[in-house]
Amino acid sequence: MIVAIDGPAGAGKSTVSRHLAARLGFTRIDTGALYRGVALAARRAGYTPAAAAMLEPFVRALGLRFDGDALLLDGEDVSSEIRAPEISRAASDFAAQPPVRAGLMELQRRLGRSTDTIMDGRDIGTVVFPDADVKIYLTASAAARAERRHRELLAAGHHASFETVLAEIEARDHQDMNRAIAPLRQADDAVVVDATTLDLPGAVAACVALVEAARGRK
Ligand code: DC
Repeated sequence: MIVAIDGPAGAGKSTVSRHLAARLGFTRIDTGALYRGVALAARRAGYTPAAAAMLEPFVRALGLRFDGDALLLDGEDVSSEIRAPEISRAASDFAAQPPVRAGLMELQRRLGRSTDTIMDGRDIGTVVFPDADVKIYLTASAAARAERRHRELLAAGHHASFETVLAEIEARDHQDMNRAIAPLRQADDAVVVDATTLDLPGAVAACVALVEAARGRK
């Protein structure tokens, strides 16, 4: 079974997906981490998003894999480095390039098909797995999302003002929703879970109910 969870930055997709996977015994795949890993590797190799023609073979050849929640790049644990604010921006820039998306497609499909999976990202229910068994669009107001991101960044030792975080979230929403290829949008058959007023247990419970209902239909 494939559960697709899409939505804008900071809506809580990662946390909700992790809890949901633990509750259901599914594997969780964070596709945002893959785009972040690509951005990190490309920057290290000296590529800019403008190097479009080079990027598909580059992405295909990358040794990206998960070890539990940790992202490994050629065996190196880059989980913490990919969360830096400059990698968030770069990931959004590289993700707008069709060759990058094409390069990651096969890996995402292979990972999703291998076992019962919760996969979260921007285009999982629309492009990567349009036939997903459950599609959830997890969202929240920009202010609620910026508040959450701000708290996470401070806890991780990164310094940023709330206003800066809010402006970056809004800029990233704009870019992710307006790019030409696989823009962030709610799939026609996705169910919206709005985390503006739901706490974490509430959001997880709403998602569990959707998965249980789909299991009942099978
Ligand atoms: O979810 P995140 O913030 O870790 O994602 C980082 C960037 O990657 C985000 O700006 C959009 C992009 N992304 C994407 O385009 N498609 C996905 N399926 C997942 C992430």
